[in-house]
Amino acid sequence: MVDLTKKCECGRPAILYRKYEGRYYCDHCLSKQVERNFKKTIGINRLIEKNDRICVALSGGKDSSSLLYLFWKVFRNRKDLKIFALIIDEGIGNYRKKCIKKAEKLCENLNIKLHKTSFKKEIGVTIDKIAKKTTKTCTYCGVFKRYLLNKKARELGATKLAVAHNLDDEAQAIIMNVIRCDLKRFERLGPMPGIIRDKKFVPRVKPLRNIHEKELYLYATVHKLPFSKRHCPYSKDNVRRDVRTLINNIEEKYPGTKIQIVKFYDAIIKKIKIKKKGKLKHCKECGEPTNQEICKTCELLKRI
Ligand code: FES
Ligand code: ZN
Repeated sequence: MVDLTKKCECGRPAILYRKYEGRYYCDHCLSKQVERNFKKTIGINRLIEKNDRICVALSGGKDSSSLLYLFWKVFRNRKDLKIFALIIDEGIGNYRKKCIKKAEKLCENLNIKLHKTSFKKEIGVTIDKIAKKTTKTCTYCGVFKRYLLNKKARELGATKLAVAHNLDDEAQAIIMNVIRCDLKRFERLGPMPGIIRDKKFVPRVKPLRNIHEKELYLYATVHKLPFSKRHCPYSKDNVRRDVRTLINNIEEKYPGTKIQIVKFYDAIIKKIKIKKKGKLKHCKECGEPTNQEICKTCELLKRI
């Protein structure tokens, strides 16, 4: 908790203390910082190009709600760009239904078109059903979600799929791939993962990857964005949760750790000689883009 008697450099009451900077921020100055960071990540990495049709992946949570709001705020006067949102109902009790309500409200407020789809409709199964058959619920959910987001975004004519990975997510993904020694996935992190061009693959962009989760929460709160604070009931015990706790503990003791992990990644990825990437294949079962003969979604569906 920030000390409420403290002031920002501009004189307004502080809502955030950035330990790694030793500086207090008020709502205005924090908003400016978040918006500057968003624009910088897009600019440096050329995430958005002229005439892009941007599909924002919404979940109803603070990160994706902030992402959509930022796109609206920064790009709403760009006539060449089109911004719309997409939300997926995984079929998790009432959890996502409540999130969808928040997403609807946000899109209504911003006058942005929201497209909806579900695992049940597109894949024929809900996460609640999968949870009864496997303990790896999150793995299934993650694979299906990536698959469906790409498929739907493409069908909607998107040229970019914007996802709300924040700095905490990115630092966790880096460390998780180190722990698993998964170089393939490690290579695929970064602001625009999966740079291979394929007519069936919509490039994913991560404009929030340099912004702390805590700051996005404050940003969404300051701008009174409708968002759900609920957590998925299946995200209890997994490696990511342990890695998150570990990184948060180190950050507490050594402020700036998350930023350094991501900076280290960006520096090292430029130096690693990545073999020239070949073309993507198309799944023999469903025709969607994949690195294998059969895509991960079709492979997992066979297991259940
Ligand atoms: Fe997919 Fe929790 S959101 S398992
Ligand atoms: Zn497939």
